[in-house]
Amino acid sequence: MEIHGVSAIVTGGASGLGLATARRLAAAGAKVMILDLDKDKALNAAAEIGCLGKACDVTQEEDVNAAIEEAEAENGPLRINVNCAGIPGGMRLVNKDGPVDMIRFAKVISVNLLGTVSVMTKCAARMTANAPLGQDGERGVIINTGSITAFEGQIGQGAYAASKAAIAGLTLQAAREFMPWGVRVMTIAPGLFRTPIADSIPEEVIAGMLDGRMFPERFGEPDEFASLVASIVENSMLNGEIIRLDAGVRLQAR
Ligand SMILES: NC(=O)c1ccc[n+]([C@@H]2O[C@H](COP(=O)([O-])OP(=O)(O)OC[C@H]3O[C@@H](n4cnc5c(N)ncnc54)[C@H](O)[C@@H]3O)[C@@H](O)[C@H]2O)c1
Repeated sequence: MEIHGVSAIVTGGASGLGLATARRLAAAGAKVMILDLDKDKALNAAAEIGCLGKACDVTQEEDVNAAIEEAEAENGPLRINVNCAGIPGGMRLVNKDGPVDMIRFAKVISVNLLGTVSVMTKCAARMTANAPLGQDGERGVIINTGSITAFEGQIGQGAYAASKAAIAGLTLQAAREFMPWGVRVMTIAPGLFRTPIADSIPEEVIAGMLDGRMFPERFGEPDEFASLVASIVENSMLNGEIIRLDAGVRLQAR
C-alpha cells in the first residue's frame, strides 16, 4: 500500500518506537494521529512532527473509539494502524513473598495484549468499510509490536513474555480473519532498542545480549523499527507473519 496520503493511527506514538514510526510515516506523506497515555508528550510530539496527537489509554474502550472517530473525521478513512503502546513489568512468577501479584500481572496483560487487541479490532472494523485500493483491493494494514521475549522469555519476564507471545499467536489468526476484507496483519518482534522502556531492562540482561552473539552488536535505533514498518506497509505480500528485528540475538536461559 502506498503510504502517501493515507490516514494512520500510531499508539504509544509519543515515545520510542511509536514516535519514530509516526515521524517516518508522516515524512512519507501519511496523515498521522499519535495516541498515547501521556497527553503532554503526545501533543508535543504531534506539534513537532506536524500531525495530530491525542491522549488515549488503549485499555479504555471509550478512549479508543473516540480517537478512531476523530482520526477518521480529520484525516479520512483509516488505512494504517501501528500498535506500539506497551509497558515492561518485570516480576517473578514466584518470589520470596509467594506467588505473583495477579493485579500486577493483569496490568501488563491489559495494556500489552488487551489494549492492542482493542485498538486493532476497532481499526480493522472501520477498515472493512474502506474503498479497495489497487489491483489487490487492499483496504488496510495493521502492525503490532511483539518482542523476542515472546520466544525466549527469561526469569522475571513472565507477564511481559505472556503478553507478547499472545500478540505473536494472534498474528496469523487475525490475518486469516481479515483476509476477506483485504486487511493485512503483521507483527514486528524487536530485540533491544534504544528507547525509554529499555532503561528498565536489568543491566545483566543487556550485558547478556551484547556479548558477541549478535551482529551488529548494539541497540537498535527506533528509526530502524520505523523503516521496517514502512516496508511492511509498502509490501502487500507481507501478511500473517512475525518478523524478528534483533540483529540475530537469542536470549540465553537465565
Ligand atoms: N525498546 C525495546 O527494546 C523493545 C523491545 C521489544 C519490544 N518493545 C515493545 O515496543 C513497544 C514500544 O516500546 P518503546 O521501547 O518505544 O517504549 P516507550 O516507553 O518509549 O514507549 C511506549 C509508549 O507507550 C505509551 N503507553 C503506555 N501505556 C499506555 C496505554 N495504556 N495507552 C496508551 N499508551 C500507553 C507510553 O506512554 C509510551 O509513550 C512496546 O510494546 C514494547 O513492549 C520494545
